[in-house]
Amino acid sequence: MNESITLTDNRNGASVEVPIVNGTVDARAWADLLPGVYFHDPSFGNTSGAASAVCELDGDAGYLRYRGHPIEQLAEQSTFLEVAHLLLFGELPTRPQLNGFADEIAESASIHENFHKRILEGFRDDAHAMGVLVSSVAALSTFYPDGKDVEDPTVRRSQMVRLLAKIPTLAASAYRRSVGNPYVQPDPDLPYTSNFLSMMFRPAEGGYEVDPVLTRALDLLFVLHADHGQNCSTTTARSVGSSHADPYVLLSAACSALYGPRHGGANEAVLRMLEEIGSYDQVDDFVAKVKTGEQLLMGFGHRVYKNYDPRAKIIKETAHRVFEVTGKNPLLDMALKLEEVALADDYFVRRKLYPNVDFYSGLIYQSMGFPVEMFTVLFAIGRTPGWLAHWDEMLTQNSRIARPRQLYTGEATRDVVPIDER
Ligand code: SDX
Repeated sequence: MNESITLTDNRNGASVEVPIVNGTVDARAWADLLPGVYFHDPSFGNTSGAASAVCELDGDAGYLRYRGHPIEQLAEQSTFLEVAHLLLFGELPTRPQLNGFADEIAESASIHENFHKRILEGFRDDAHAMGVLVSSVAALSTFYPDGKDVEDPTVRRSQMVRLLAKIPTLAASAYRRSVGNPYVQPDPDLPYTSNFLSMMFRPAEGGYEVDPVLTRALDLLFVLHADHGQNCSTTTARSVGSSHADPYVLLSAACSALYGPRHGGANEAVLRMLEEIGSYDQVDDFVAKVKTGEQLLMGFGHRVYKNYDPRAKIIKETAHRVFEVTGKNPLLDMALKLEEVALADDYFVRRKLYPNVDFYSGLIYQSMGFPVEMFTVLFAIGRTPGWLAHWDEMLTQNSRIARPRQLYTGEATRDVVPIDER
């Protein structure tokens, strides 16, 4: 079969044959045939904006692979730092490589004391943790101006290690400030996720033991959130990175995109939705409101997955293990009922709406003691290696600055009328 398409301009009969390569055709091939004519695709639903080797997902088959490794195997066998190494450098690390990587991260995990005093203390007591994270990640740019030399791969590598190391410290500091607890500096002897939990929940006085089941569950959740192709926040990261801005403001932009309730903010919105539904017997009424368009079923639906999100399946299984330690989250039965009702209802089936990564994750976070304002921050910690891997890849590819065309729908040309004559 001829793996190509032929485009014909019917205005003059000219045509061009364009090969179909890996499911895409190169838009640049018809620039000569159709000068000044652009394919309009406002939310990029049918457009590829990047060539990437970082992650592959298939929405119909319902699979997700990081650098070719199936997410199910990584979830089962790998730690978050192993997966971060895989995403950033292309391969799962050997044990010596992992130990060296973990040491680099541990050495770079603390944040400047001025940061706590002058930046974090500047926020209102009720400041949302994501607002604090977005601002404080951007502020790191002023502490590390060396990060601006983005075309030097060695410089990029040290910024990636620094950001991966400091994001959990910033996140935990934002939380401790919000509850009025003194900051806890990272402990270089603790593994990455244990260290984060210690910085989050270590009491001002006395010791703190992280529960291994909860640590493993959180580490697994970070693995499941680590990358997901050209999602909204990664597209933002690549776009900001294409102007050669530094990785700190890039990550802040990515966190900003993630914050929205249609994207990473959905895990927080799911919890608020469940609390708003109120009780198990109100589920049917709520679903009826979704079907009339009055409400969205948060945690459901996906631009790519028209099948069950493979991550949601793993998270649902993980929830049961966490609840054996923490006690069952009282909202679980309501969530399970919502899923059962939706998956049996033609409104959702016809629209191929299934639970996504955000539907069950918040139940776990809440049971582990995280306030709902921290849920999207946890998503951001997990997604950091993915955002950075795409940034590094884009610069390695010498990508041009992102600058899409537009379909102009405004006024035709017209003269300015002097203000006193308007
Ligand atoms: C993430 O892209 C990624 O990979 C993202 C992510 C990642 O790892 O980076 O996977 C993480 O962001 C997951 C998604 C989290 N968001 C939510 O759970 C919010 C609720 N979901 C919706 O907002 C929506 O499903 C989106 C934003 C996720 C996807 O939106 P699309 O692809 O633009 O779909 P659409 O709005 O065009 O919906 C198609 C139809 C519409 O109905 P009709 O106009 O055809 O009648 O489905 C309906 C929508 O109204 N619909 C929903 C719905 N989602 C879509 N109806 C009720 N509840 C929903 N959640």
